[in-house]
Amino acid sequence: MRGMFLVLCLSLLGEAPALAQQMAHYPNDMADRVQACTPCHGVEGKGTNDAYFPRLAGKPAGYLLNQLEAFKAGRRKYPPMNYLLEYLTDDYLAQIAAYFADQHPSLPEKPPTDVSQTVLDRGHAIVTKGDLDRSIPACVSCHGSSLTGQAPGIPGLLGLRATYVSAQLGGWRYGTRTAKAPDCMQLVAARLTEDDVRAVAAYLANQPQPADPVPSAAGSWSLPFACGSQPDGEKKP
Ligand code: HEC
Ligand code: HEC
Repeated sequence: MRGMFLVLCLSLLGEAPALAQQMAHYPNDMADRVQACTPCHGVEGKGTNDAYFPRLAGKPAGYLLNQLEAFKAGRRKYPPMNYLLEYLTDDYLAQIAAYFADQHPSLPEKPPTDVSQTVLDRGHAIVTKGDLDRSIPACVSCHGSSLTGQAPGIPGLLGLRATYVSAQLGGWRYGTRTAKAPDCMQLVAARLTEDDVRAVAAYLANQPQPADPVPSAAGSWSLPFACGSQPDGEKKP
């Protein structure tokens, strides 16, 4: 396994551009350069049938860059991704992020759900209203009322599979996924029980495709508290 990833790393490295470029720009042959990513993330980052490999297409560029930096630095752990990004320059990571943010292949078909209506209702309540008694904020307060996220750092939550969402919330709860400080998602995830996570993940995966999956512009709404991934996003006193 590791040998294969080294080969992928080397092919990426060999093609890394010598000159730094602006965040919003990437070379024309970027689709060829990111072929090492396609087996797991699909063509144009549209995702695959694997329940654990996330879609990348159309997520905010700042969010994608934060993830690439987190894998490179080991703040987020998945060994194949950690090896693959280890030797790529920060400029190149920014180009990769900009490329995937610009792709808009169709969203996957919503998979059938295997949980009860009671569980879906609980997920719906947490996502849209939170649970004030337990200091759980509504997910929509940051991810947006249509759950499509906000540039530059807040991802949408639709088009993700339940397995992937649970694994990410688990990663924050158990410390294998860490975002820039203050890590607001760590605070949110720490307040959720296993049952909450299951309900929220099932509810999100069961939502229809949004009419417009594009993330909202930066500053479209203020966050209830600070997130390092979204500088100046919270309400000013
Ligand atoms: C062997 C499969 C594999 C390969 C190859 C791979 N990835 Fe990943 N990638 C994953 C998995 C699995 C995750 C989720 C890991 C986790 O649970 O944190 C992930 C997560 C990501 C994320 C975070 C997505 C999100 O929504 O938070 C980004 C960005 C990413 N990969 C980019 C890339 C890029 C760019 C490449 C090519 C240079 C690549 N990946 C190659 C499997 C892979
Ligand atoms: C205070 C703002 C805030 C609130 C409230 C919030 N989130 Fe987040 N969420 C974020 C930010 C910022 C990120 C990106 C973190 C990073 O850079 O890795 C994120 C990322 C995520 C991700 C990772 C998506 C991916 O593609 O890997 C999931 C899943 C998630 N949030 C679920 C939730 C759920 C479920 C709730 C409600 C229980 C919630 N969030 C509430 C700010 C928030």
